Amino acid sequence: MSGIPHDHYEPKSKGAKWVESRLPVIGLIYDTIMIPTPKNLNWWWIWGIVLAFCLALQIVTGIVLVMHYTPHVDLAFASIEHIMRDVNGGHMLRYIHMNGASLFFFAVYIHIFRGMYYGSYKAPREITWIVGMIIYLLMMATGFMGYVLPWGQMSFWGATVITGLFGAIPFVGEGLQTFLLGGPAVDNATLNRFFSLHYLLPFVIAALVIVHIWAFHTTGNNNPTGVDVRRGSKEEAQKDTLPFWPYFVIKDLVGLAIVVTIFFAVVGFMPNYLGHPDNYIEANPLATPAHIVPEWYFLPFYAILRAFTADVWVVMAVNWITGGIIDAKFFGVLAMFGAIIVMALLPWLDTSRVRSGRFRPMFKWWYALLVVDFIVLMWVGAQEAKFPYDWISLVASAYWFAYFLVIMPLLGIIEKPTTPPATIEEDFNAHYDIKPAE
Ligand code: HEM
Repeated sequence: MSGIPHDHYEPKSKGAKWVESRLPVIGLIYDTIMIPTPKNLNWWWIWGIVLAFCLALQIVTGIVLVMHYTPHVDLAFASIEHIMRDVNGGHMLRYIHMNGASLFFFAVYIHIFRGMYYGSYKAPREITWIVGMIIYLLMMATGFMGYVLPWGQMSFWGATVITGLFGAIPFVGEGLQTFLLGGPAVDNATLNRFFSLHYLLPFVIAALVIVHIWAFHTTGNNNPTGVDVRRGSKEEAQKDTLPFWPYFVIKDLVGLAIVVTIFFAVVGFMPNYLGHPDNYIEANPLATPAHIVPEWYFLPFYAILRAFTADVWVVMAVNWITGGIIDAKFFGVLAMFGAIIVMALLPWLDTSRVRSGRFRPMFKWWYALLVVDFIVLMWVGAQEAKFPYDWISLVASAYWFAYFLVIMPLLGIIEKPTTPPATIEEDFNAHYDIKPAE
């Protein structure tokens, strides 16, 4: 599967040969787990496994929750309380699923920012990156629809606000919104279709994860130096790599064990820390909460959505040029989706010939600022839309776009990168102070 030369599975016994000539499944598993992996991978590479764990955890806990949950507006809220109080271990199951979503997003943000620092999106890994972005969008859709299911105040009003965004699309918006909701407002039909899709999408994500892994197994993993594995011969490749099993499996499991320990401490001791108290009040279409806030993992993009109000000059200019077709609300929606689209286009926006940020002296600073910017957006997304938060979100949103659309293309031209090591082996030996054999 991988372009890196390595040993392949050779069936020895008669039985194994019989199976392998009919269905080469053992060979496929062997090639997958014995894949040559750059031996200098650092701890930022454990998050892929954490993500795979999260997906499995969400699917397993979700399937058991469904056995006790009722997707009906009159019963949904009560069925969640039933899970919390009456079902054996039900509160644990629900808290794991609830906080599991947070761990999933925490892990995906680290995984994405790791990729952005080490240039993992650059050729030849564009497809791994794009598939990752599609997975991320589906994760957002799944998380959003899952949050509606308990039918609390935030579920209801969050769904009302977010589906309302589709209504802002010119000409087709109103029809689209009605189609998504299954009626003129968030109601039983909405809850039912969200439930159905919330169950379906994780399996679509699982299928895409297989494609994601297939893609980076084809190109080989990136690594902290961004330098390619030597592929001239098997012996040469072996100097830069180690088989995934047992070396990286053990390392990943150590990382996962630490993450899972912290996760269960949160689940056990502070399960509602990341939640909103209003979601323990049953949905009431007649009482709007004072302050509607999405889950923490949506906040950066929610901040971008709200940043572009009608008094911002770019919005005014676009509104005028398009004859009012793009108003402030639609502009906000375009900015929110645009903020994700520019990330997806990174392989083509980054013009640097050097892959890893380690060897890019100017990039490092802009990248650090992007991380800060993301955290600021997350914070400001939870604040009320008034001074000074409106200004902060506008500046932070502007930096987000500037980073991808201006800084990334320009840096490749004006920056003078330092020299990466010639080989992965050289980097590894320097790190562990190993003197190469004569
Ligand atoms: C369910 C979600 C996901 C799972 C289970 C997953 C899993 C993995 C795994 C196991 C790896 C290899 C080892 C590692 O880097 O940890 C990997 C690599 C990678 N992932 Fe993901 N991923 C997910 C989502 C994403 C997303 C949202 C992106 C960003 C758009 C992304 C971009 C990448 C890239 C660029 C690599 C290549 C890194 C390399 O070659 O070293 N992934 N992913």
